[in-house]
Amino acid sequence: MAKKLWGGRFKKKIDKDFEEFSKSIQYDYKLAEYDIYHSIIHVNALVDSAILTKKEGQRLIFSLGQILREIEKGTFTPDLECEDIHSDIQSRVEKKVGKLAAKLHTLRSRNDQVVFDEKFYCLNEVELLGKLLGDVFDAIVSKAKQYEKNFFLGYTHTRRAQVIFFSDYILAYAYMFKRDYRRFQCFLKNLEVVIGAGALAGSALNSKHYQKAIFSALVKKNLAELNSSVDNVSSRDFIIELLSMLSILQMHLSRLTEDMILYSGKEFDFLRLPEEFCTGSSLMPHKKNPDFLELVRGYTGMVYGNLVAVLTMMKGLPLTYNRDMQLDKEPLFSSVEVLKNELKIMAKFIKGVTLNEENIAKALEDDSLYATEIAEFLVISKGVAFSDAHTVVGKLVRYSEDKKIRVKDMKDSLLKTFYPGLSLKALKSIMNPEYATSSKKSVVRKMPKTIKA
Ligand code: ARG
Repeated sequence: MAKKLWGGRFKKKIDKDFEEFSKSIQYDYKLAEYDIYHSIIHVNALVDSAILTKKEGQRLIFSLGQILREIEKGTFTPDLECEDIHSDIQSRVEKKVGKLAAKLHTLRSRNDQVVFDEKFYCLNEVELLGKLLGDVFDAIVSKAKQYEKNFFLGYTHTRRAQVIFFSDYILAYAYMFKRDYRRFQCFLKNLEVVIGAGALAGSALNSKHYQKAIFSALVKKNLAELNSSVDNVSSRDFIIELLSMLSILQMHLSRLTEDMILYSGKEFDFLRLPEEFCTGSSLMPHKKNPDFLELVRGYTGMVYGNLVAVLTMMKGLPLTYNRDMQLDKEPLFSSVEVLKNELKIMAKFIKGVTLNEENIAKALEDDSLYATEIAEFLVISKGVAFSDAHTVVGKLVRYSEDKKIRVKDMKDSLLKTFYPGLSLKALKSIMNPEYATSSKKSVVRKMPKTIKA
């Protein structure tokens, strides 16, 4: 049994079931690297304040460095006998330096370590997520360029609405992802990592010693001065913030997947999906199922759930640290892993999507797609008030539906019964995708530049 970081005041041994129940080592080992950063800064501060000799400090840092290399090489396996990663590293240091290890935990608390570790985890992972999101963004922009001149059907209420460019459609997602990316950048810029909160009240180590130790830290980014030890050990809003950003990103991904599922089905048949990301049916030989997209859509429940889990876990906690907060890790790690996997595959998936141009062209012949353009023509060219034009075209469309006669097949004499200024020649010049798109002047269309730094 691994040694605990506590125990002196207890006479009875811990209940075995409870001991297992209380462990976090099975997931918080992911914080090992960052916990070592904490230890190195802490040892340096202890040396600087003469609590440890230089030699003791060097021996401790050397042993921590050895563990760090194991982590970097991927040979580190957590000791599941330990309560958590902080205890695990403490016991490894003890195996390397013997009794001196007892001085490592001088004037510090896991309450401080855990926040420090989690913040570094968030910083590293958000940087990585940003790169992966950048790849998805680039894949979307490439797709928009590949089909820059292609028209597409725009929907509202899942009903045919107006003609747009395919790039208008797909770049909408690029702009959503750009905002997601910016949220990541803000997070990276604003997150402050502090050290020295102790259990809650701060420690006897002078902040100057910490500042000096931070200066020599392996990773300096985001390290800041400690202004509130109470806030530091009590707060997990940075985790909630990240889980919120990931939920918004997941919502965007989920809408994209839903679009692609819909548009690639036989009923729409506008898109073809890359085969290497689809699966077949064990029974129905013809099936090509969009499982990747469905799984992404499905994971949304888990990603939102993770956010709600941490929000709810935190909502009633009195200050400062409470053990409940140990449960922030699994939701955090889960959402980060899900999003990384999704983004990695999504960039490749989008590259493989192609348009069924023939079928889109057929769908673009639908008269109703141009009803708004006819009404606007009556307003702009004939001076009709918009609500009158709206009624005229509404009646025209209704007649066309009832009599099953296309507007383009109507004679001038019939058209003029709806409005004297209507003629087939005029309608033909309006009812086509070129006119429909070129008559829209409010949008400044640009191919967005990559968001990756
Ligand atoms: N495993 C704990 C967590 O993740 C570390 C902090 C433990 N602190 C304590 N006072 N028991 O929150």
